[in-house]
Amino acid sequence: MAAGIDDIAIYIPRLYIDASDFAKARGLDPVKLQKGLGVSQMAIVDANQDPACLAANACLKIMQNNKLSPEDIGRLYVSTESAFDESKAMNSYVIGMLEQVYGQGSFEHCGGIETKFACVSGSYALYDNANWIRADEADGKAALVVVSDIAKYDMGSSGEMTQGAGSVVMLLNDKPRLLEFDPKVTATSIKDEYDFYRPFGKETPIVHGQYSNMLYMIQVRKALEAYKKKVIKTGLIKMESGDTILDHMDYINMHLPYSNMGKKALAYLVRHEWRQLPRWKRILKEIGMEEPVPKDPRGTIESVLGDQEFMTKDHEFTKLFTKTQEYQEVYEAKLSSSLIASTMIGNLYTASLYLGFRSSLEFEYQKGVDLLGKRVGFGSYGSGSSAMVFSGVIQPGFEEVVKNMNLESELGDRRRLTLDEYEDLHENKLTPENSMIHSKKEFVLVDVKTDEESRGERRYVFNE
Ligand code: CAA
Repeated sequence: MAAGIDDIAIYIPRLYIDASDFAKARGLDPVKLQKGLGVSQMAIVDANQDPACLAANACLKIMQNNKLSPEDIGRLYVSTESAFDESKAMNSYVIGMLEQVYGQGSFEHCGGIETKFACVSGSYALYDNANWIRADEADGKAALVVVSDIAKYDMGSSGEMTQGAGSVVMLLNDKPRLLEFDPKVTATSIKDEYDFYRPFGKETPIVHGQYSNMLYMIQVRKALEAYKKKVIKTGLIKMESGDTILDHMDYINMHLPYSNMGKKALAYLVRHEWRQLPRWKRILKEIGMEEPVPKDPRGTIESVLGDQEFMTKDHEFTKLFTKTQEYQEVYEAKLSSSLIASTMIGNLYTASLYLGFRSSLEFEYQKGVDLLGKRVGFGSYGSGSSAMVFSGVIQPGFEEVVKNMNLESELGDRRRLTLDEYEDLHENKLTPENSMIHSKKEFVLVDVKTDEESRGERRYVFNE
């Protein structure tokens, strides 16, 4: 039985901080954010929003767009790394909110859990729910997989310029209009690491920025190697000599903690794939320098990062490599459209890969590309750490879904925060009743109880 993504919807908070305002306040060169990281605006949650209401707002949208009733949904999973409870799963809050609209008990039949593995857990949730459908357990129902996060870093830290917030929901079924997952090729890699983590009770993560960048690329590459083996074993793709697996992906969506991380990761993967091929000689000639190697090629990530001479040369080599015509063609055709939304919204942790997929569909369609039958590869990464590589093929019904995508109108009237407003929100100085926007037709957080008996209980309403 087939399984895949039938539709996709997003919910992005309407407050944002502009990269130029942020850079000025922190004494940074705005070009570092805009060109160096690919960050123009970062979406920020209002005082009456949390990751559960972002998720519920996205779910309501996809249900209304598709005229779905709760009876049509058999599973609702929420993947997040912004959990606010150690036991009660975020999907229970989401169900509670949706039942305010669809009626008490209307989702009673629906199963689901909250999944956690930093930014990769949404990909595991998609995989598990696709398998639920493939196993014919769904009884004609669809699954909703919601990825929802608030990417928030300590004030003044280097991560602060890579924040964002929002939610993406995907409707999964056995006759997907948008994308059918390729069966039996999903591949993973996993390793106990401390590149980025958030200990109990801490609102913001502890981050080893450059280490996390490098680990991301290494882990995704390992998962890509495993994917390649499965593709060859299953015969899904016929590889000719001189081909790389990436030649057989029309689009490549990467996890986007900031949009240029997608560029960095693609360059890393392409470079490692091409190194084995006859075309590499020609590329090296165009670059005009030898590919640098670290002093200790078998060393740890720390030893490579500490090898200043290598890092400088490697940086120079990468820059030249990404300027070669052959690489530029791959970048423009396979990745560039996926980066547009990230630049305008920022990091969504679990949701950022799927915001990128959504962005790629909309902007490739606008270019006039016929998406039917195109193979889409996904490179998912979660700190701590695990990567997943999988793929799918765009289906005949795609146009019905993609023609209505309009990021600008979905973002709506955004409000540019002043630095003071942003800092008050960041430091949790405002309570829900002091929200900056009075939203309509949305779920909002009203109250979090603080008394001994019911501490942590959250109350939400649907603003008519
Ligand atoms: N003009 C133009 N470009 C500039 C510039 C300037 N004035 N100054 C710097 N740049 C460029 C740099 O050359 C660099 O480009 P390259 O990557 O091509 O080399 C880029 O801007 C960033 O500069 P730095 O690497 O010096 O930036 P930094 O070290 O201060 O911070 C960061 C970058 C490490 C990503 C930091 O923002 C951070 O820690 N972020 C959070 C962690 C993170 O996002 N990790 C990603 C992998 S882990 C993951 O993906 C999970 C997740 O979602 C968090």
